[in-house]
Amino acid sequence: MPPRFGRVLISGDEIAARVLELGRAIGREHAGQDPLLVGVLKGAVIFLADLVRAIPMEVTVDFMGVSAYGAGPPSSGVVRLTADLSESIEGRDVIIVEDIIDTGRTLAYLRSNLSTRRPRSVSVCVLLDKMERREVDVKLDYVGFVIPDQWVLGYGFDLGGLYRGLPYITVLEAEASG
Ligand code: PRP
Repeated sequence: MPPRFGRVLISGDEIAARVLELGRAIGREHAGQDPLLVGVLKGAVIFLADLVRAIPMEVTVDFMGVSAYGAGPPSSGVVRLTADLSESIEGRDVIIVEDIIDTGRTLAYLRSNLSTRRPRSVSVCVLLDKMERREVDVKLDYVGFVIPDQWVLGYGFDLGGLYRGLPYITVLEAEASG
């Protein structure tokens, strides 16, 4: 049975306006630097593509892949690296770009993994913060929207790999969040 979409949680226009604000803030606070944006596969790719174009300075990009929960159940907290950066980040100002922070476990893993590679700084830009599900305390430098505990779809967010291309963020109707 196809999923039933609920209401539009965040419209395409609202996303675009917020991404522009985030891009300007990053441009202000990283002026004079040569920041490296690290997109976390796969969901953050859509957000990263728009964010890069909203930052009013030259930046470089790279990607990391993580499997949030490995083979265990969602509560297991297992995080596994599935794809690594293409080059060294030593001395770089790194900005992790995530689509969503839920329990915080993936980001905690990424931060600790990246910090062993001697970057000059690591900051975090996330589109959605599902704050009420947090299990690990993680510092977020740039946050697009704080959202309730609902399963989101569109603009990078998927259900079984589908619907990432929707130009807005909607919620799955009558489904428990995961
Ligand atoms: C999502 C999201 C984060 C992680 C956040 O990835 O992109 O990486 O979960 O969850 P946490 O805060 O509880 O660790 P997902 O596993 O859905 O992969 P995807 O981006 O490839 O869709």
